[in-house]
Amino acid sequence: MKPRVAVLISGGGSNMVKLLESMDGDHPAEPVLVLANSAGAGGLAKARALGVQSDFVDHKRYGKDREAFENALIAKLDAVQADVICLAGFMRVLTPHFIDRYDGRMLNIHPSLLPKYKGLHTHARAIEAGDNEAGCTVHEVTAKLDDGPILAQARVPILETDSPETLAARVLIEEHRIYPQALLQFIHKF
Ligand code: GRF
Repeated sequence: MKPRVAVLISGGGSNMVKLLESMDGDHPAEPVLVLANSAGAGGLAKARALGVQSDFVDHKRYGKDREAFENALIAKLDAVQADVICLAGFMRVLTPHFIDRYDGRMLNIHPSLLPKYKGLHTHARAIEAGDNEAGCTVHEVTAKLDDGPILAQARVPILETDSPETLAARVLIEEHRIYPQALLQFIHKF
């Protein structure tokens, strides 16, 4: 049986689309679910258009009760027997309650050269610091935010004319290239 991959998103899901497209016929894994934390996530329709089941759990319904929100996610992931979780622009911080359950089988893409610039606004911070390069990182998810073992990285130069938006657009191209590659490598261990 091929390992079953679920992708968690919050927004447009361009990384999710690249992951789904990469898992074609002879890929060793299969996509089984795209799950968002709001009904308004633009990626849900893109997943359906690619023939993959999509669903959402509205985190707002759970207020501060993160565990209840995570249990609702877990119920949907269990229903499709997800083996591997890919976070792709999923913007809710997960607690150890969820992370421990998927220990060693959950990946994330982060738009910086970790361990630099964990958290948000990575491109603005790199430009402000006067760095001459930026990039992105695929890593395993652990309890510490943006801190797990690194599986892949890609670097791009920061141009004098760059704004956070122009830099983000150039980094996103690299994200789309390394995430499917890193997933393929990761799946081989299953
Ligand atoms: C990506 O830059 C990702 O690194 C970050 O959020 C952005 C999501 O983009 N966490 P998309 O939803 O995959 O297009």
